[in-house]
Amino acid sequence: MRVLGIETSCDETGVAIYDGTRGLLAHALFSQIEMHQAYGGVVPELASRDHVRRTLPLMNSVLAESGLTLADLDGIAYTAGPGLIGALLVGASVAHGLAFGLGIPAVGVHHMEAHLLAPMLEASPPAFPFLALLVSGGHSLLVDVAGLGRYTVLGESLDDAAGEAFDKAAKLLGLGYPGGPAIERLAAGGRSGRFRFPRPMTDRPGLDFSFSGLKTYTATTVRAHAAEPAAAADIALAFSEAVVDTFVIKCRRALRQSGRHTLVVAGGVSANRMLRAGLDALGLETGVKVYYPAQQFCTDNGAMVAYAGYLRLAAGETASEAYAVRPRWSLAELGVPGAAA
Ligand code: KG4
Ligand code: ZN
Repeated sequence: MRVLGIETSCDETGVAIYDGTRGLLAHALFSQIEMHQAYGGVVPELASRDHVRRTLPLMNSVLAESGLTLADLDGIAYTAGPGLIGALLVGASVAHGLAFGLGIPAVGVHHMEAHLLAPMLEASPPAFPFLALLVSGGHSLLVDVAGLGRYTVLGESLDDAAGEAFDKAAKLLGLGYPGGPAIERLAAGGRSGRFRFPRPMTDRPGLDFSFSGLKTYTATTVRAHAAEPAAAADIALAFSEAVVDTFVIKCRRALRQSGRHTLVVAGGVSANRMLRAGLDALGLETGVKVYYPAQQFCTDNGAMVAYAGYLRLAAGETASEAYAVRPRWSLAELGVPGAAA
């Protein structure tokens, strides 16, 4: 089975083809980051319009790269949510239009499920069941994953998502968008121990997160050291240490609570090397195996959507309703493919 995947939920247009026997055949990505940079964040209408421009050329390039034609496809997967409604509608329209013309199913994929499954594209993939830490620009989730579509949300952010916290801290430090990679680069030159930021919500039981206080703490520290440019790197490092520590503490707790022995980390923030080092150390200490996506599949991409769509179609999922996009959509609402909703 060959599935074309289309990702258009935010500011990256991603298209890929996944083959059930040969694996990932081709993937292509166009990032709109440069276009949104001038505004310090994603402008939804500009994002939708650019997805319209990019999706079909990217599709043609992955078809050419894999030596396939549209007639070779068995299904089309697209991100149906959560995300920006206009942006989602572009992918949904292209997918349903093509699928209708080709007489194949179009299946709407949950963006966070696609992130969650991305580490399975690697050479030694994790096996179900596992605990997942999903950290992106829109979500911070701890999820117990019993199998495909069998998700129990154990914890989530009560305010800002982890990626959003990185983006806001970067803005306060005068860095560009997206903030995560910029903070990571700046933090590499910071001195540890100069500042100690709070580890939000770690002093009480539970697995939820909150990052808005960390943003306020960052703002206050930046203001207090405005006259000292060298402090920026120390602040970036202290901020990163606080986020990483918080995730390590909560993952340790969630592993204990769920009894899982495998930890899967995915989403844009999983690209962060400090976070990976912290979670790898936790894995070594607890005997838990930790899995990540390839760096290029941490942030939004078409490969994870093609793969999630492939798994769902292979497990018996049927075509989704056209235009059924969900800007807000909890992972907990998903079900096992093929089962009645
Ligand atoms: O998963 P993603 O591409 O989009 C969403 O689904 O939201 O995640 C984007 C987020 C941004 O907030 C970005 O700042 C963050 O991931 N990010 C990082 C790194 N690379 C991307 N955060 C920390 N360190 C990084 N290296
Ligand atoms: Zn994403």
